[in-house]
Amino acid sequence: MTERLEDIAIAMTAEGQGILAADESTGTIKKRFDSINTESTEDSRRDYREMLFRSDEAMKNYISGVILFEETLFQKAADGTPLVDLIKAAGAVPGIKVDKGAKLIPGSEVETVTEGLDGLRERLVKYYEAGARFAKWRAVIAITEDTPSWNCVKANTHALARYAALCQEAGIVPIVEPEVLMDGPHSHHSIERCYEVTEWVLKTQFSELYDAGINLEGMVLKPNMVVPGQKSGQKASVEEVAEWTVRCLKNTVPSSVPGIAFLSGGQSDEVATAHLSAMNAMYDMPWRLTYSYGRALQHAALMAWQGKAENVAAAQRAFTHRARMNGLAAQGAWKREMEDAA
Ligand code: 13P
Repeated sequence: MTERLEDIAIAMTAEGQGILAADESTGTIKKRFDSINTESTEDSRRDYREMLFRSDEAMKNYISGVILFEETLFQKAADGTPLVDLIKAAGAVPGIKVDKGAKLIPGSEVETVTEGLDGLRERLVKYYEAGARFAKWRAVIAITEDTPSWNCVKANTHALARYAALCQEAGIVPIVEPEVLMDGPHSHHSIERCYEVTEWVLKTQFSELYDAGINLEGMVLKPNMVVPGQKSGQKASVEEVAEWTVRCLKNTVPSSVPGIAFLSGGQSDEVATAHLSAMNAMYDMPWRLTYSYGRALQHAALMAWQGKAENVAAAQRAFTHRARMNGLAAQGAWKREMEDAA
């Protein structure tokens, strides 16, 4: 029996839970491993991810879904169990990153368009057979003095809509991720400018999804929060970020979308948690608001691990703590004192 898209989307954003983004491409995971002087090999990547997926308490209670890179979807744990089975056994939904990366738009040195539509219909069949029930495609929108261009916004949101349609046809829930960057060399923009661009991108995105005939009840949105650029020097309080972000979402995201799961985008672990908790504590919203964090869920675990087998238990404790804090934030119940208590 095939599961309904609507039910998968609801399971992905279950109360007090969120998504673990563990879909770093081979290049990105190498950068993460470089930071702990650990070589990135098929086995070390397997060991690291297996360690996360075997963190039972975290996985069962706070993780509703895991986004995987293609290699991991087909990889087996050291004892031969498919990693996908570990995820399913913990009650989480396996998902797969399907885009082929952001490539420079001809004529630009800053703007990219995300590729990967060719052959996607056939790949999705393979991924479904391997157990994936949702997918992710990330588009990247950079803010500078003269970007984003309409060409960049249009091309990326259109590709996301075509990807989403192919996913739904295959029985796979699309995570639609049009990320307006907060970090990087150009991030000098104010929170006001981030609001303006994010609103424009999301309005365009839902117009494209409508044109492509997307079932909004069978998708999850993965947006950025509305924050000042990392290099802007501007400071925004947790309450300000919550207010700007919720206002932006209320102005753009139809209430039929079941869940919104934020990316962390370079925010520190605790800040990403604080922002999410404030939004859930301060506002009534028609959608479930949760996390789909990569760095903000994994950073502490990666640091504790250091690529060493003897550190696995400590790294799992670090991951479990971060997941629990974010699970509380998804219910608006996180308090800073809880960090110190741990
Ligand atoms: P970050 O939370 O590290 O931004 O990663 C989330 C993600 O999946 C980006 O596509």
